[in-house]
Amino acid sequence: MKTSMRTTYCGIPRIENAGETMTVCGWVQRQRDLGQLIFIDLRDRTGILQLAFDENTDREAFDTAFSCRAEYVLQAEGVLRERSSKNMDIPTGEVELAVTKLKVLCKSETPPFEIAENSDVNDTLRLKYRYLDLRRPDMQRAIMMRHRVTKIARDYFNEQGFLEIETPMLTKSTPEGARDYLVPSRVHQGKFYALPQSPQQYKQLLMLSGFDRYMQIVRCFRDEDLRADRQPEFTQIDLEMSFVDEEDVMTVQEGFIKRVFKEVLDVDVETPFLRLPFSEAMERFGSDKPDMRFGMELKNISDIVGKSEIPFFKAPVEAGGSVRCICVPEGADKFARKQIDKLVDYVKTYRAGGLAWMKLTNEGVSSSFAKFSTDEINSEIAACAGANTGDLILIVGDAKDEIVFAALGALRCEIAKNLGILKKDDYKFLWVTEFPMFEFSEEENRYVAMHHPFTAPLDEDVDKLAEDKAKCRAKAYDIVLNGIELGGGSIRINRPEMQETMFKALGFSAEDANERFGHLINAFKYGAPPHGGLAYGLDRLVMLMAGQDSIRDVIAFPKVQNASEPMTACPDVVDDKQLLELGIAVSVSDKEQ
Ligand code: AMO
Repeated sequence: MKTSMRTTYCGIPRIENAGETMTVCGWVQRQRDLGQLIFIDLRDRTGILQLAFDENTDREAFDTAFSCRAEYVLQAEGVLRERSSKNMDIPTGEVELAVTKLKVLCKSETPPFEIAENSDVNDTLRLKYRYLDLRRPDMQRAIMMRHRVTKIARDYFNEQGFLEIETPMLTKSTPEGARDYLVPSRVHQGKFYALPQSPQQYKQLLMLSGFDRYMQIVRCFRDEDLRADRQPEFTQIDLEMSFVDEEDVMTVQEGFIKRVFKEVLDVDVETPFLRLPFSEAMERFGSDKPDMRFGMELKNISDIVGKSEIPFFKAPVEAGGSVRCICVPEGADKFARKQIDKLVDYVKTYRAGGLAWMKLTNEGVSSSFAKFSTDEINSEIAACAGANTGDLILIVGDAKDEIVFAALGALRCEIAKNLGILKKDDYKFLWVTEFPMFEFSEEENRYVAMHHPFTAPLDEDVDKLAEDKAKCRAKAYDIVLNGIELGGGSIRINRPEMQETMFKALGFSAEDANERFGHLINAFKYGAPPHGGLAYGLDRLVMLMAGQDSIRDVIAFPKVQNASEPMTACPDVVDDKQLLELGIAVSVSDKEQ
């Protein structure tokens, strides 16, 4: 962008521009002093341009170039010329700027780490000096990609008739879902706002108000444990539509994904995406967010081993659970005892009691349960697992199906990672549909909504709301990419009678429900259209598109593991005066905890 200080960016000039006079501004990436010759690589967000100083350069400019150090901010005017030794690795590598005037706009201290692509700097230092970390080209590309994804979202949904409407950041706490971030009220002492975990209720009310199609790129807050794909504050592309069913919502979203992948990555995504009911996703992949880039599907061997004398297989089957396995093609040689021991430890983190294995080799079958098994059982297991000579079969059994699924589902992905078969630029999308309406919370000893209490049940499962909760399925869907839940949504309940039935099913008394959701219950008395929607995690979408492993790498100023921000050192104590105004007394401090 041309300004009063520059005529072009560093990354723009090409050989066709040779002979043109131009002015660029940027940061010193590197200064090389070869005596009679000085080169400076000048960097801005578009790339690097080589500045050249030689015996023909104005003396003052030459001396200034001599004094330049890394990260000085410069303005350089000169004439573009063809380089004598070209660098075809960078787009401006055929040219250099023969500088006529050079000005140091600002000096820099030596930075705590080198500003370079993929430099191996420890995370704490990177985040303490995030403003320097953000100068690195890989970070700049990720943040610029984020901008493009956001812009395309706005354009696409605008073209599809969606209106961008802001919803409040200071809201009411509703104790369903994750923990809230609370904001004390000064005017109403002892009362608190909650920062929104999502604009769920507001966007539904906007449908009731007749806006028909809503979208918002919105910050959400959840006080939950951090992971690579979780931050306490994150951004959703949030959507809601009226007079729609699941297919309408999914089709519009597929159009968005197709467009954003084409425009940003030049990748053609095939639509429609596969629709996989939750129960099938669990049976085949042990996960409600299956990574479809590879096979190794789960197989149920309960019928085979249930009748065997293998105690640790027989017991879970008899207890109503299951025994399942995955087959690792050509895994027999790749996984020695030591590595298998590591996999045993791995499944234990998913509460599995252990991991049994069986290897099919040219010399025959070997297994961790050889002394209890028979040739016949071994062959049946191998046939069910679809195993051939050279393969490794890994088996988990438990009285609780969900433990078997969780352990094998995670193990499948861990092995694919170990084998190095996961390609980051292989994008396998799918919809997981027909989620269970409820999940049993051991902590609360009751059924809670798996998605949220406004999600509609499948028409054919309405009668299960009261009596057969475990089997009741919802009109809920998740969009999944390469083992990561990118977004989730549902068709909502729009009739008050059904909402009442749902609250009852969740064990809320009428008073309870009124206390928590009274505003919504009231609103729904006044004609709510059938509606549904979805929210994407923007950070996760950009992370996968940028080929990063953590959403931290696509957020300009993220939080670290303990939810703090090393640069500003927040959260922090506040003045007693501020607390007094809010009517708040602090009883436990961070240090005492
Ligand atoms: P849900 O809770 O599934 O649905 O969230 C939607 C998407 O938001 C992203 N996400 C997160 N990203 C980063 N850090 C977090 N802590 C975090 N939590 C969630 C995920 C997730 O798929 N209101 C509903 C949507 C709806 O029904 O329309 C909701 O928020 O990518």
